[in-house]
Parts: sequence; structure tokens; C-alpha cells
Amino acid sequence: MLSTMTIPAIPFFLYTLFVLSARPVIAAYNLVDKRVLVTGSSGGIGSGIAIALAQKGARIVVHYNTRREGAEETARFIRDHGGICDGIVQSDFRIPANIPELFRQLDDIWGEGSGPDVLVNNAGVVSKLAVEDDDEDLNIWMETMQVNLHASYHLSKLAYQRMNRIKGKEKGGVIINVSPIHGSISVEYMTAYAASKAGLDRLTAGLASEWAQDNIRVNAVAPGAIPVERTEAFTVQESPRLMVAASTRGEDGKCKRSCAFGYLSL
Ligand SMILES: NC(=O)c1ccc[n+]([C@@H]2O[C@H](COP(=O)([O-])OP(=O)(O)OC[C@H]3O[C@@H](n4cnc5c(N)ncnc54)[C@H](OP(=O)(O)O)[C@@H]3O)[C@@H](O)[C@H]2O)c1
Repeated sequence: MLSTMTIPAIPFFLYTLFVLSARPVIAAYNLVDKRVLVTGSSGGIGSGIAIALAQKGARIVVHYNTRREGAEETARFIRDHGGICDGIVQSDFRIPANIPELFRQLDDIWGEGSGPDVLVNNAGVVSKLAVEDDDEDLNIWMETMQVNLHASYHLSKLAYQRMNRIKGKEKGGVIINVSPIHGSISVEYMTAYAASKAGLDRLTAGLASEWAQDNIRVNAVAPGAIPVERTEAFTVQESPRLMVAASTRGEDGKCKRSCAFGYLSL
């Protein structure tokens, strides 16, 4: 089982986020042999999710888009600490045709048509731009919607088809969407991001009610502001309203604990 004693290669905040602060909660869950795809696990929150789930015995597939080295670091960390990382897959979700192709990569890893048992739709782009600065093709809007919302819909649909026809054992599965506070608050210059995540919230509720009868649970976790490599330069001065809103949802580690609890219990 994955050791929590030494954490050399992964940023300290990930250790804090998913291991230290949630240890009493994590202890209650056992994910042995669950095949888990964590999208966007080449760094940031996704890397922390993959590590935390591997710690509970899950068989992880790490996904990345551009950061191959980050994906390898996540995989290496899991394996070096006694966990199971079955493989690494690459896919750019801006292109819809890449999503079925990602499932073909999963076939090569887990066998044709089998897995995942758990899908974590974590990959996302955080777009920050005044609406009037989007270009005439609406590239920022299109990319944000495609990666944050459409890809989650498509991935969930393909995962559902597999979860709903598992042979030789009870069918069912779990889908977890990462949908931050922006689904329910508005912040200037993050209109596309907020709209995509509000859509993800409705997608979550819709899929949950459609697929409950198939023993497939669909939930969303809404963490507050979590520092990752990408957000290092994102300061209170830059967006005071965002940070105030985030702090009301769980500063001082509360959001981190509820975040880790969410992933493991949903
Ligand atoms: N950090 C926060 O404060 C916070 C709070 C609440 C919710 N969230 C949500 O948490 C999730 C992860 O964010 P993060 O903060 O950990 O950011 P991050 O470190 O930038 O991670 C984003 C991940 O998404 C992947 N990704 C980006 N564009 C992609 C594309 N076109 N196709 C496929 N994958 C793509 C990235 O892959 P590559 O790096 O390999 O390109 C990366 O692994 C997002 O959904 C975000 O909305 C973040």
C-alpha cells in the first residue's frame, strides 16, 4: 500500500491536500482493484487526486495533455510508494474526436471495453479574459466550453457504456466532476469559465438522476481556491472578489479536507 511517510517529488501542497488533512477520513475507504481514470493528472489537483486514490488501492491511469513530464512524475510517485499506476494516456480535449481515441488507449491498458470503474473529470482550463477581448471566432469561449463541459459529457457517456455492461460482476461505477465555486458565483473576466462550470453542475445532476438506476453515482466536488503551479501568480490583489468568495467556502484547510473527503466518498 502506498506509503505516506516520504513525499519527495510531489509539491508539498498536494501532500497537505490529500494525505495529511484528510487522513482520518481517507482511512475509511478501500478502492482495491478499482480502475480509475483521472483526467488532468499531470499536475495540480488532478495529480493529488490520483495519488490519494492510489493510496487506497485503486489502479490509476494518469491522463495529460501537454505535460508529459508531469504525468510521468505522478505515475512514478504512485509506483515508488507501492501504489498501482497502470499507464499514462495523452489526449487534447479541445478536439472531440480525441475522446473516443482516449478510450482506445484504455483498451490497450485494461483490455477491450473494460474500465474505468471510476472516472474523475478533473481536466480543465481556467480562462480569464474580458468578453470583448475574445476573438471573432470566440476561441476562448469555444475552448473553455469544449474542455470543461463538452469533454466531461463525452467522457462520461463513453465511461457509462462500459460501467453499464461489466461482465461477470455487478455493474455500476462512479463519476466525479471537479466543479469549483464558479458554478454558482460570477467573477469578472471569468464568464466563460463560470458558464462552463455552471453547465458542469447541471450535467452532474442530470447524469446522476439518469444513471442512478444503473448503480452509477455521479457527483461533483467544488473546492475553493487551491494553490497549484498555474495559480502561483494569481493574487488577492488581482481578483479580490474571487478570493473573498473562495474564503467563505473554506479557507484555512477546510476546503482541502472536504475536497479529499469528496473524492474518496463519492
Ligand atoms: N486550483 C483551484 O483553485 C481550483 C479550484 C476549484 C476547482 N478547480 C478545478 O480543478 C481542475 C484542475 O485544475 P488545477 O487548478 O489543478 O489546474 P492545472 O494544474 O492547470 O491542471 C489542469 C489539468 O487539465 C489538463 N488540461 C488542460 N487543458 C486540457 C486540454 N485541452 N485537454 C486535456 N486536458 C487538459 C492539464 O493537462 P496538461 O497540463 O498536461 O496540459 C492539467 O492536467 C479544473 O477543472 C479546475 O477548474 C481548481
